[in-house]
Amino acid sequence: MQQRLFIVSNRLPVNIDTDNQVHLSSGGLVSAISSYLDDNHQLNNIAERVWVGVPGCSYNTWTKVAPSIPDTGYSYQPVFINKKNYDAYYNGLANSTIWPLFHYFPSYAEFHNSQFDAYLQANREFAHVLGTHLHPNDTVWIHDYHLMPLAGMLREQFPNLTIGFFLHIPFPSFEILRIMPTRWQRALLEGMLGADLVGFHTIDYVSHFLKSVQMVLGLDNDIHTIRYNNRLVKVDIFPISIDFDKFHDAYDHPEVTERRRVLSEQFGKRKVIFSVDRLDYTKGVYSRLKAYEHFLALHPEFREQVVLVMVVVPSRDTISKYAERKKMIDEYIGDINSRIGNINWQPIIYQYQHLSFTELMALYTCCDVALVTPLRDGMNLVSKEFVASRKDQRGVLILSEMAGAARELTDALTINPNDTEETAMKLKRGLEMNDDEQSRRLAAMQDRVRQYDVRTWAADFFDQLYSVKSKQHNFEIKFLDAKNKAQLITNFQSSRKRLLLLDYDGTLTALTTHPSYAKPNQALLDLLHDIASNEQNDVFIISGRDSATLDEWLGHLPIKIVSEHGANFKLHNKDQWLPEPAITNEWVEPMRAVMNNYVRRCANSFVETKQFSIAWHYRNADEEQGAIRATELYNELLDYTNSLNIQVIRGHKVVEIRNKGINKASAVKKILQANAYDFILACGDDVTDEDMFALLAPVPSAYTIRVGAYASHAKFNLHTPQMVLSMLSTLHNLTAGEKQLAAG
Ligand code: UDP
Ligand code: G6P
Repeated sequence: MQQRLFIVSNRLPVNIDTDNQVHLSSGGLVSAISSYLDDNHQLNNIAERVWVGVPGCSYNTWTKVAPSIPDTGYSYQPVFINKKNYDAYYNGLANSTIWPLFHYFPSYAEFHNSQFDAYLQANREFAHVLGTHLHPNDTVWIHDYHLMPLAGMLREQFPNLTIGFFLHIPFPSFEILRIMPTRWQRALLEGMLGADLVGFHTIDYVSHFLKSVQMVLGLDNDIHTIRYNNRLVKVDIFPISIDFDKFHDAYDHPEVTERRRVLSEQFGKRKVIFSVDRLDYTKGVYSRLKAYEHFLALHPEFREQVVLVMVVVPSRDTISKYAERKKMIDEYIGDINSRIGNINWQPIIYQYQHLSFTELMALYTCCDVALVTPLRDGMNLVSKEFVASRKDQRGVLILSEMAGAARELTDALTINPNDTEETAMKLKRGLEMNDDEQSRRLAAMQDRVRQYDVRTWAADFFDQLYSVKSKQHNFEIKFLDAKNKAQLITNFQSSRKRLLLLDYDGTLTALTTHPSYAKPNQALLDLLHDIASNEQNDVFIISGRDSATLDEWLGHLPIKIVSEHGANFKLHNKDQWLPEPAITNEWVEPMRAVMNNYVRRCANSFVETKQFSIAWHYRNADEEQGAIRATELYNELLDYTNSLNIQVIRGHKVVEIRNKGINKASAVKKILQANAYDFILACGDDVTDEDMFALLAPVPSAYTIRVGAYASHAKFNLHTPQMVLSMLSTLHNLTAGEKQLAAG
């Protein structure tokens, strides 16, 4: 079946108004995705492209008007949501809760359960429409904060679907996210984790998201990869961009050149400061005006020599906060113009309207300074478009450090938009900047935007999406079948030097109600003794347990022991323990005090203190209460991880603290450096064994086995410890038999 791509966003790129007129939708999301989809060249491996979203009109209007929409090479799939529900979802939860909160305007955020329900309902309607069209091997790319739960809903219907999610706005710090009801936080985060790949513009947004996932869902990550519902979810940075060539080349379009000539004539000798943004309180329009007024007050010599051309694009004006903002801006501009201007000079030329591409290009390319001052902005494409459009290498970009773009456009004059003084100072500096400096700064920024344009952005996203998909395939549950077992046995028999890495609890013995009850029986001791007595076998018990117990139970056997997840080694039963150098344990006591508090708060939980680690077990506690307390404890402990150089891990019904950098993979690396093996068998049952499985995944001679039905980096699964023992016994009997034959 051929590949199909479904782009899903709240809005379709075309919007049909009440007069049945078709308009292009505004904003960065539509600009970027249409640029990407318009580029047929890039999409030749995709047979069909469909954009799914709301059309802004009724079903009847859509069926009448849709045939007249110009052909774009992709099709539209409209989603119709009834007016009342749409209002609660779009004007309500999306734009009066998530938008203000995620842009650090918590005082603007409203919290109404009915709106949250409408938000979920709207997402379900998207899922329903998609569900009627999707095939299991399609790719779905979901965009933005309107549709955060959608990936999770689709995942329930299509477990193997390839789903990407990209957030176009900032992801805020956890302290902001936690302002919303916990149930909502969970629904948003769990929804996003329904995707295979979750993308953000900057490293800060990625860090905030990962921290929120830890705090709210108790899920750790391993180099930006989260294990969630037996799947791997990758989280990464993809700074959105623009079609560089389109803006660069348009400089010379005849209609742009002509319009620029007319505008330049109109402005005459006056320097032009230009700004364009949607009507939005996040864009800092009001503080921009304040800074401009301050600049004119500080530098009267610029009066009549400069003009601010300010275009505000209509947006969301049915929401009260937006309507209020518009009124404030209108009044303030009127005030400045009448107070400071005169008959020959209007300090601000203001338009509240959409711009055509030609008009936008003419303004970008005739201005002296582009003034971009958002109080918060996920990325801000206007700044990148301005940079790309200046083929003449003239013009100065003043950019707020609160925009995601400031991380890339480091040659802009950056400002804090709340700092009127600084903005006024940079305005002066920009207006007086010499040509060489303008050109040098623009060239550097153009290089960046050219290199990582919207094509690279999308290609990067798809590369990562398909790569995580193939990793997931390796991560799936794969029970060891007869064929692979036979191959394992053959390889074992034909090898010369073998390494056996065996976890203890849950792998060689079943889990018990208390760690002290898992003492080995005679049969297990005999089996380990027999296998380890064969000099071709190096048998390691590699466990999270404390050294003393392992010594007491297994110390007399001819085996090697790694305790406390790799903190302590014993390479011969007569040797002393060799702790990892630089390992510390002065933190154990203070952490025990923290954990003891949870023993009091959760009946039947207990603390296990080891030499270099400490664990709080809740396997005997009430299931629900144990899980709640575990999340609380985990969250509390995370606060200590940087200052104490420790790591907190959640295993199966346990929260454990150990030294940072010490894990079963670091232990296995050390073992492999000391000796060469042509056969490796590693068995384990818990998340702490995953480090060792991941390390051994690329090693062809290694068999890795996870006990239990869990998705894993291990190559195979076995159901129970009993099956591990039976396999070890088979391996031993075969080689013992061979030895006898050879001796005979
Ligand atoms: N834009 C638009 N209509 C206009 C003027 C500009 O759609 O009348 C485009 C502009 O070219 C840019 C986008 O809107 O691509 C604004 O994106 P940005 O990331 O700066 O802000 P957003 O509106 O997405 O918050
Ligand atoms: C921002 C958002 C987009 C949104 C656009 C226009 O760019 O990230 O998702 O489409 O603003 O806003 P609107 O509410 O008109 O769709």
